[in-house]
Amino acid sequence: MARRSKSGGLLLWHWQAWSHFLKCPSESFDLQDSQDPQRIIFFRISCFSNQRQCICGGKENHMKTILINGSPRKNWNTAMMLREAQKGAESVGAETEYMDLFDLSYTGCRSCLACKRKGAERCKCFWKDDLSPVIDRIFASDALMIGSPIYLGDVTSQVRGLIERLHFCALSYDDYANYFTGKVNVGIILTMNAPMAFYNQAYRKKAEEIAQSFRALNGEVEVYACCDTLQVNDYSKFSMAGFNEAHKKEMREKQFPRDLEAAYQMGARLSGGEA
Ligand SMILES: Cc1cc2nc3c(=O)[nH]c(=O)nc-3n(C[C@H](O)[C@H](O)[C@H](O)COP(=O)(O)O)c2cc1C
Repeated sequence: MARRSKSGGLLLWHWQAWSHFLKCPSESFDLQDSQDPQRIIFFRISCFSNQRQCICGGKENHMKTILINGSPRKNWNTAMMLREAQKGAESVGAETEYMDLFDLSYTGCRSCLACKRKGAERCKCFWKDDLSPVIDRIFASDALMIGSPIYLGDVTSQVRGLIERLHFCALSYDDYANYFTGKVNVGIILTMNAPMAFYNQAYRKKAEEIAQSFRALNGEVEVYACCDTLQVNDYSKFSMAGFNEAHKKEMREKQFPRDLEAAYQMGARLSGGEA
């Protein structure tokens, strides 16, 4: 589903370039809002794959699922959601690998343009730091579950850096085609203070943009918004009067278990399961 920017030449060029990049002649997309308002799903229809085929039905699953935590906190909301997604992936037999982006030393794209050199290996980031091997592993995987807290209306800078580098090395500067011919399903988990109504009004468009940026991986892309999270255990110790602690605790008790279950299901589904 193509959307066009109305914001002038540069933005239009930018969008045209990216939409061309994201377009694949043998494939088509539908953006579907499911019954569940927390989920955005992009179905890739008639996608091709050069990846291993998974045998569903609980018999055999050779899929590899990478789970990436884009929060600096290793045991809080985003990490908990991803750990459940990992359990879901493992429940259908996928091999999993979990990592914390904040353990890695890297920046966003350095514009070295090594990935655009004539004859260079495609879909490879040549910058020598901790992220390049991760990018290699993502391209070689079957499913990616990436989680990020919302920071000032966007993903964390670490997730943004990963997106820049993952996508730029798969982008042809000859014709804006997508060099990547494999297929990686992508599950994006966003956690935030904002309640669902505010997410729908203010962040949903951003969530769709983030999902769009993973379409170059040629798989199904899903977004799950985990709203109204508990940010600290004891609000009385912080100057955080803008939040109602009783409400936050109630959300943690009643809604968060549902979010965890949704993460589990997403991990299983995108890793080849029927859940
Ligand atoms: C620097 C910073 C900026 C934040 N900005 C937002 C924001 O713009 N909108 C929002 O809903 N929550 C915002 N939050 C709250 C976090 O998104 C929320 O607490 C999230 O669930 C934290 O994830 P974690 O527990 O995995 O660290 C912000 C938190 C921090 C630390």
